[in-house]
Amino acid sequence: MNPVVHIYPSKTEAASAFAQTLSEQIAAKEGHFHLALSGGSTPKLLFTLLAENYRNEIPWGKVHLWWGDERCVPPEHEESNYRMTKEFLLFSINIPQGNIHRVRGEDRPDREAIRYEEEIKAHLESKDGWPVFDMIMLGMGGDGHTASIFPDNLSLLDSPQTCAVAIHPDSGQKRVTLTGKVINQAKEVAFLVTGASKKEKVQAILGKEEGSKAYPAAHIQPVEGNLSWYLDEAAAP
Ligand code: 6PG
Repeated sequence: MNPVVHIYPSKTEAASAFAQTLSEQIAAKEGHFHLALSGGSTPKLLFTLLAENYRNEIPWGKVHLWWGDERCVPPEHEESNYRMTKEFLLFSINIPQGNIHRVRGEDRPDREAIRYEEEIKAHLESKDGWPVFDMIMLGMGGDGHTASIFPDNLSLLDSPQTCAVAIHPDSGQKRVTLTGKVINQAKEVAFLVTGASKKEKVQAILGKEEGSKAYPAAHIQPVEGNLSWYLDEAAAP
């Protein structure tokens, strides 16, 4: 199924539209809503909007928060995706602590990848042997990576594991990441990508241009779920 591409004049409008869609999907789901968050800087605007405008509109007690990837650093580290999420969102919403499933970045990466996979499988329903997220939110790096699946390690797209250890190609920083198959098992996958620096890769991927399969984000195609891109005009083809 082709992705649904939403383009907005500004990153604020793109993030606002994503927030509203997220609110509607959470409302529509009976029972728990398992949401995997992306990291980096783009989500900060989304989290701010959720904290300001959806504190009471979203029934956070039914939402379980997971991370699509996490840097292997302590939770108070400035590069921790959990710390960023706490500062921009968690401090502002009333969500049970038990619904927050952080990757323990302070622990040994290989052991944590196994532990996190076990925690995911203990909470989520499965289909064809894969845990099924209600929604996985993704960003995209300027090199076309997504989650922490980088262009130099496309094998993570076909890993038999739900979680794996990745290594940032420039910094050498270890990450724990969801892998390609579990991402593609999700009911909803939504990219939130903004800024001119992403335009070239977005254009190559959405245009299915020659060579675009070198970019991990080009391999995100849910098996049965829906794929959406939320873009600002700066990042749009
Ligand atoms: C991370 C992310 C990563 C991110 C992209 C885009 O931990 O860094 O999960 O996949 O989404 O690198 O990052 P920006 O939003 O900072 O451009």
